Amino acid sequence: MSLYTDKVMDHFENPRNVGVIEDADGIGEVGNPLCGDIMKMYLKVEDDRIADVKFKTFGCGSAIATSSMATELIKGKTLDEALELTNKAVVEALDGLPARKIHCSVLAEDAIKAALVDYYNKSGKEMPESLVGFEPHED
Ligand code: FES
Repeated sequence: MSLYTDKVMDHFENPRNVGVIEDADGIGEVGNPLCGDIMKMYLKVEDDRIADVKFKTFGCGSAIATSSMATELIKGKTLDEALELTNKAVVEALDGLPARKIHCSVLAEDAIKAALVDYYNKSGKEMPESLVGFEPHED
């Protein structure tokens, strides 16, 4: 039996929202120093909603699957809803990940948060409390 659920395999093999948004309103890049994987998220924001989101992930299959699912979960949502996305919700939406791969989903949550921080910095809008002092996880 595969370690990975059908949903993980689907999002790994057919990742959604791969690419770059040239005129992005927010860009977040995070990496995990232990495995060396890197994730970059691009956000387009309109009327306080995630009008578009794309990602580039240089990383393992789980990093690609979690990036893909994370983008699907925030697309069209409000900024506040996007802000609440947790790695746990991403893992649940994928029907689970092996324990050793949970950190890959943390990278997805952090990449979105980093892109939101960049959006608030660039737009000059007031940074939500929960993003003030945001630091990506180290492992
Ligand atoms: Fe590092 Fe998956 S092994 S993000």
